[in-house]
Formats: sequence, structure tokens, C-alpha cells
Amino acid sequence: MATFTVLKRCFSTSTSRKVIQNVTVIGGGLMGSGIAQVAAQSGNNVTLVEVNPDILKKADAVIKTNLGRVAKKLYKEDARAIEKFVDETKARIVGSTDLSEAVRDSDLVVEAIVENLDVKHKLFGALDKAAPPKTLFASNTSSLSIGDIASVTDRKDRFGGLHFFNPVPVMKLLEVVRIPEQSEQTYQAFMAWGKAIGKTCITCKDTPGFVVNRLLVPYLAEAIRMMERGDASPRDIDIAMKLGAGYPMGPIELADYVGHDTTLSIIEGWHKKFPDKQLFVPCESLKEKVREGKLGVKTGEGYYKYNK
Ligand code: CAA
Ligand code: NAD
Repeated sequence: MATFTVLKRCFSTSTSRKVIQNVTVIGGGLMGSGIAQVAAQSGNNVTLVEVNPDILKKADAVIKTNLGRVAKKLYKEDARAIEKFVDETKARIVGSTDLSEAVRDSDLVVEAIVENLDVKHKLFGALDKAAPPKTLFASNTSSLSIGDIASVTDRKDRFGGLHFFNPVPVMKLLEVVRIPEQSEQTYQAFMAWGKAIGKTCITCKDTPGFVVNRLLVPYLAEAIRMMERGDASPRDIDIAMKLGAGYPMGPIELADYVGHDTTLSIIEGWHKKFPDKQLFVPCESLKEKVREGKLGVKTGEGYYKYNK
């Protein structure tokens, strides 16, 4: 199977191009591969950056499969149209392990690496030096403060949160997070780009969890605590919320889907900041799952087992 083209794109110099045309996505995991996909689907030139070339190969395969699902919806049984859509979209994505080269002519960098402030600081410090002044920076963090992440750069006016949801190709929402230093031009560019890639954007302040996670993560943790107490089985909790509240997934399934490393780091971060809030106390079984490497769907086991 063909993998991403190695980075060497002739960057467009056309004066009529859109404000955001060249997009660099950093991190080719669950979220980064989805963000790269939706940007390429809408016509952006995308460079996907990873530390690990094996993950680039995996991302390449994941994107191909998910583009196939999208194409099937668009072109039904027309195999040639499906193939053309997949090939043309994939051709707009190049993989790279060279950060400086990847941001050389980037209009927008979207960071989707591990949920760790020190690691994100190291990355954005390097990016700030490597990227041209025009490049806007965004983090897809689930729970860290955008202002804290931006603090290591000299472009806080061109910085914000672009918070996507998993699975990125399917979930229609994009949270556009503002920080006080962010310029109106940057905000408008983020909103326009979100719309251009097919998302419905909402705007929110740089508060813990923004809108969705501030409501969703305590709900997931409450469901896990309910299971830990033995009030109901995981399967019954999931059935209850699907059939009794109309959610597409139950909370235990959803925790497995999000990944326990992500959920634990969110809740531990909040617990550190707000130790008196009972809702933010990390759940014992969640810590245990992470210790055991049972991170959910992505590792084949969490609270449930999955076929890899
Ligand atoms: N790429 C492209 N298409 C995909 C896809 C992907 N990765 N995953 C699913 N799809 C498509 C399928 O092709 C299918 O399309 P059709 O209906 O046209 O056939 C559709 O989505 C539904 O998929 P499935 O039939 O496989 O499964 P489902 O009906 O159970 O839906 C789901 C799957 C969309 C994930 C649904 O269960 C759901 O919405 N779950 C809740 C997800 C959620 O809450 N996400 C947010 C998590 S929180 C977060 O992301 C923020 C954070 O910071 C932690
Ligand atoms: P993931 O573990 O699937 O992917 C992270 C990837 O980043 C890994 O492939 C890793 O190799 C790569 N990476 C780490 N350091 C790097 C660096 N310096 N340069 C390039 N690549 C690097 O994680 P994920 O679930 O995709 O989460 C990524 C970010 O998105 C996190 O900040 C997370 O909080 C956020 N997020 C996650 C979800 C979710 O449901 N999982 C939803 C929204 C936002």
C-alpha cells in the first residue's frame, strides 16, 4: 500500500489563495489523523508531522479507510468516483518527521500531540522559531489552558484553541477558543477555516474543558464511579444512557472510545487545580486501566475488550 508522499511539495504562491490553505497538523494519532483528513477533504494542502514514522504509516492507512467511508456516502456504488476521491484527497496530505520543513510555508498549525503541558511547550517553542510570522497556531488540547500553552510563544495574538471531537470526520462541532491576546483577525480566520472544513463552530473562553468537556468528563467519571460502587454493571449503565437519555454511546463505552490516558490526564489536571471539587477526583479504576496500558478501543481493551 502506498504511504504518504515524503515531504517535498511545491507550495502555492498564488495571491488569490484562501487565507488558510497550507495546514500543518502535528501528531498523527487518533485526533491528528482525523484533522488532517477533514482539512485535505476541503482542499487544504496538509502536512502531517509525527515523531514516529511508523505512526505516519498507521495514520496513512486509517485515513485511507475513513476516506473510503466518506466516499461511499458521497458516491454510493460508483467505484471509480470513490477511488478518485480517496486518491485525490490523500494526495493533498504529505507526511513528515521534520518540523522546521513542515511549517516553512504553513498558514495554520494545529497541534494534536500528547496531553502534557511540558511536551506542548517544547513543541510550540520550537515552532515559534521555525514558522514564518504569518502562521497561526492552534492547539487541540482537551483540557489544558490555551493561554498556558501559548505562553512560550511570541505570537499570542495569532494563537487559539481549535478543539475537535472524536471521530473527527463525523463529529460536526469545532470549539474555537479565545484567549485575551488573540486578535480579531485570528479569531475570524479560525471561524472561517472551521466553516470551510465543514464544521459548526462555537466560540468559548479559555476555561477548563471549554464547553463540551466541562460537562462530558465529569459525567464519564460519575458513570465510572457508579460502576466502581457496583450500583449497576457497565453494560447496564451504557444501555441506560443510550435508551433512557438518547445518547449514541453509553458513558463507559465512550470513555473507552476517548482513551483512558486522555480522560485521566484531563481529570488529574483539573484535580490539581481544583482539589476541593469532588467531581474532579480521579477514579481508581481509571488509574488502574492506564497503569495496565488498557487505554480503551485504541489498545484493544479498556472496560470492554475489542477486536483489534
Ligand atoms: N470516519 C469517517 N466516518 C466514520 C468514522 C470515521 N472515523 N466513524 C464512523 N463513521 C461513520 C460511519 O461510516 C457511519 O456512516 P453512515 O451512518 O452513513 O453509514 C456513521 O459514521 C456511524 O458509524 P457506525 O455505524 O460505525 O457506528 P455508530 O452508528 O455507532 O456511530 C459514532 C459511531 C459516530 C462514533 C457514534 O457512536 C457517536 O456519535 N458516539 C459519540 C461520540 C462522541 O461523543 N464523541 C465525542 C467524544 S469527546 C471528545 O472527542 C473531546 C475530547 O476532548 C475528549
Ligand atoms: P494520540 O496518543 O492518539 O496521538 C498523539 C500523537 O502525537 C502520537 O501519535 C505521538 O507519536 C505524537 N507526538 C507526540 N509528541 C509529538 C511531537 N513532539 N511531534 C509530533 N508528534 C508527536 O492522542 P489523541 O487522542 O490524538 O490526542 C491528541 C490531542 O488531542 C491531546 O491534546 C488530546 O487531549 C486532544 N484530544 C483528544 C480527544 C480524544 O477523544 N482522544 C478529543 C479531542 C482532543
